[in-house]
Amino acid sequence: MKVYRMASIPGDGVGPEVIAEGIKVLDAVAALDGGFHFEWTTFPWGCEYYLQHGRMMDDDGLARLQGFDAIYLGAVGAPGVPDHISLWGLLLAIRKGFDQYINLRPVKLLRGAPCPLKDVAPGAIDMTFVRENSEGEYAGSGAWLYRDQPNEVVIQNGVFSRVGCERVMRYAYALARREGKTLTSISKGNALNYSMVFWDQIFAEIGREYPEVETHSYLVDAASMFMVKDPKRFEIVVTSNLFGDILTDLGAAITGGMGLAAGANINPERKYPSMFEPIHGSAPDIAGKGIANPLASIWSASQILEFFGHNDWARRVLEAIEALLTEGTTLTPDVGGSASTGEVGDAIVRLLSRS
Ligand code: NAD
Ligand code: IPM
Ligand code: MN
Repeated sequence: MKVYRMASIPGDGVGPEVIAEGIKVLDAVAALDGGFHFEWTTFPWGCEYYLQHGRMMDDDGLARLQGFDAIYLGAVGAPGVPDHISLWGLLLAIRKGFDQYINLRPVKLLRGAPCPLKDVAPGAIDMTFVRENSEGEYAGSGAWLYRDQPNEVVIQNGVFSRVGCERVMRYAYALARREGKTLTSISKGNALNYSMVFWDQIFAEIGREYPEVETHSYLVDAASMFMVKDPKRFEIVVTSNLFGDILTDLGAAITGGMGLAAGANINPERKYPSMFEPIHGSAPDIAGKGIANPLASIWSASQILEFFGHNDWARRVLEAIEALLTEGTTLTPDVGGSASTGEVGDAIVRLLSRS
């Protein structure tokens, strides 16, 4: 029996509520399959931990996570702790420490999912964002000078390395070639006259290694407009860290909301564990009420199954989500229902048992 060693970091707010349902689904899949098993270790890291111990995770946190096959994370952030402290102390520390330089985010309109756009059928929105996840606008390079003085200055540098750009482009081109899809780069070379001119140049350079891939290139302002007006023009998308962050929340908005949007932080070389998460935050406005939508977490559970090569189960979990959305009887309030978080997880398990 294959055993997957899983680290779970439920984190803050709705994180623990939705991660419990994802674990429920993964354990149910393993039981139904009979050939593999998930062994869970839960880490109590997050904002409560910070308030007690003065750090978001233990000093040897990365060393302790290193031995796991994958990390399953809920959400990080709570009103009592500044966001840049909590996120840099945990989520970003793991993404960077484990060189998870690919952030894979499906933006796909599932059957039955509510869509605020008119005349858009499921299938007409089917994108995969490949977000650069290790540097760019999130490099953490800068300075805060003359703090609280009249001449105060803050500097936040964007850092775009040749290695960093080439590897994310190659990953995106290879994915587009494998799936027979177009590849669109989203950048902003007209205004960001160093970083994004460089980005566009590397996109073209790496493209010569993949002549069979049809490419498009958009400025980010126009791209955000087209994502709403004509989303079918995007298939595989490669973009920078900050643009990818913003555009995938927009992507969530056109495909059913934050409760449905999943993401995988991948270290493609598998030198370090990869990390799977819903892309939403800790949702303090609904935390503790038992109404958070666990489908984003369950979709990221499907990404875990795919990462381990259980493609058939990954597909069946997505189909169960589609079946639930289409039935429409057991959904949380954000997607028009009145069910609880736990009821949605149970319903997915029931659908999988019948599939
Ligand atoms: P958010 O994603 O937490 O919430 C935005 C809106 O979406 C809220 O109205 C919330 O109720 C709703 N929402 C989010 N997840 C939902 C779910 N599963 N079901 C139903 N509705 C859901 O974003 P925010 O309010 O900007 O941030 C809150 C905190 O989370 C901040 O501390 C922020 O820094 C942090 N954050 C963390 C992550 C992460 O850990 N990956 C991601 C984004 C934000
Ligand atoms: C996300 C989040 C994070 C990001 C924040 C919380 C640092 O918004 O995963 O989308 O910007 O990457
Ligand atoms: Mn985000």
